[in-house]
Amino acid sequence: MTATSTAASETAAAPTTIPATAVISRAAAVAPIDRRIFGSFVEHLGRCVYDGIYEPGHPTANEDGFRLDVVELVKELGSTTIRYPGGNFVSGYRWEDGVGPREQRPVRRDLAWHAIETNQVGLNEFARWCKLTNSELMMAVNLGTRGIEEALDLLEYANHPSGTALSEKRIADGTPEPHNIRMWCLGNEMDGPWQIGHMSAENYGRLAARTASAMKTADSSLELVACGSSGSAMPTFGEWERVVLEHSYEHVDYISCHAYYQERNGDLGSYLASSLDMQYFIETVVATADHVKHKLRSSKTLKLSFDEWNIWYLDEHRASDEVNDEWRVAPRQLEDVYSVADAVVFGNLLMTLLKNHDRVGSASLAQLVNVIAPIMTEPGGDAWRQTTFFPFSVTSRLARGEVLLPRVSCGTYSTAVYGEAPLVDVVATTDSATGASAVFLVNRSQTETLEVSIDVSDLDATVVTEAHTLHDEDVYAKNTRTDQGRVSLKELQEVSLQDGVLTVRLAPVSWSALALA
Ligand code: AHR
Repeated sequence: MTATSTAASETAAAPTTIPATAVISRAAAVAPIDRRIFGSFVEHLGRCVYDGIYEPGHPTANEDGFRLDVVELVKELGSTTIRYPGGNFVSGYRWEDGVGPREQRPVRRDLAWHAIETNQVGLNEFARWCKLTNSELMMAVNLGTRGIEEALDLLEYANHPSGTALSEKRIADGTPEPHNIRMWCLGNEMDGPWQIGHMSAENYGRLAARTASAMKTADSSLELVACGSSGSAMPTFGEWERVVLEHSYEHVDYISCHAYYQERNGDLGSYLASSLDMQYFIETVVATADHVKHKLRSSKTLKLSFDEWNIWYLDEHRASDEVNDEWRVAPRQLEDVYSVADAVVFGNLLMTLLKNHDRVGSASLAQLVNVIAPIMTEPGGDAWRQTTFFPFSVTSRLARGEVLLPRVSCGTYSTAVYGEAPLVDVVATTDSATGASAVFLVNRSQTETLEVSIDVSDLDATVVTEAHTLHDEDVYAKNTRTDQGRVSLKELQEVSLQDGVLTVRLAPVSWSALALA
């Protein structure tokens, strides 16, 4: 992106229109779209599983106790892989507790979130839920309190067809077919002092390498994810990746990235530019992984699994007492209610993942239901869409074929955190099989409408088939339990496609998507 130095006046009294231009060319292809970029995450945390996806007794519950109204929303959301069962939870989890007859499963303490785990949902039920939602199960193993042996046991139980002790146990537990889980996370955020069993980069790197090598001895086609830093603000960020990968590079396929964003101190301008931080994060991890690649003279190029990303008002949750000394089943924890501004930033983060899809091979929106989630539920009641639901569902549906990186010229605005930030961000996709293309845009200005002229002549598009925008006069408007439909997508007005030039007008603080044919 080229950002011109003619900064827009963010203090202008009357709204004006600022021009911006972009060129979308097939030559600027980033990568074919792997549907795993639209993954999500279900952790045994708060009301994500219990009173979220699972609520026996709910009017829509099936024989497994899964809410079918939630299943329908998950399908509409269009999430693909689902990371499970944690998160911090996995680092104290015994997978065996969650299989076998439900009435015999132990009730345990979950130390990560200070809650009671009933184990009524475990691997086999969750795999059935994934089938209901057409999603791929991505499993995490516990490297906090457990190790190689338990990871291998879980792998045998989950994936071995039959004829061994643990595969026969799975069959006896009512699941004759192996789950054939392809992607496995080797622990979770093992650098974080909050993580049960957290360790040094040196120790984790060795453990990840040994666990990965043992798992690949069982099945060399598995795709394994080593834990990267739990955030780019960690003091060990960069160095952690280097040390972990120097030990494990040849045994793993991905290094993980986790990033959460929130508006701080009323600084909406910086918040709207959050994707610049995600871009920096990705570039730093790519540079570190490639440094290790060359140091080891490896022929393999590692991908990133951005397996936790979202908006999370973490500061507010830290200050609250929702994680407290009580031992409760499915307490209300991390139930952020998202605004229009949150959804605009969120849509921009997803665009950033697409823009880096040559290296970010897989991603998981954290999380899916109730816990920092696009879908909310009430026990015995409704399920509804948060504002962040819309950019995800539209992008997952329209982004097909391969990602194209547009050349953009636009003004900038000043931010306290990131310096000058471009007012507009754009990414496109095109599918040569169907001739369909899509363009995703964000206007980060708080005051100005942007008129963007996009040269799409290379896409051979003649008609705009869909034009959606997420915008509201009140950037803090939200969907709540009592007003579930306050915010939804609107049709983007004032769109034209003539002589290969697509012209759109983007309202301040808006996310938009167009489908072209
Ligand atoms: O997604 C919520 C939590 O955030 C996860 O459990 C943990 O991995 C991260 O710190």
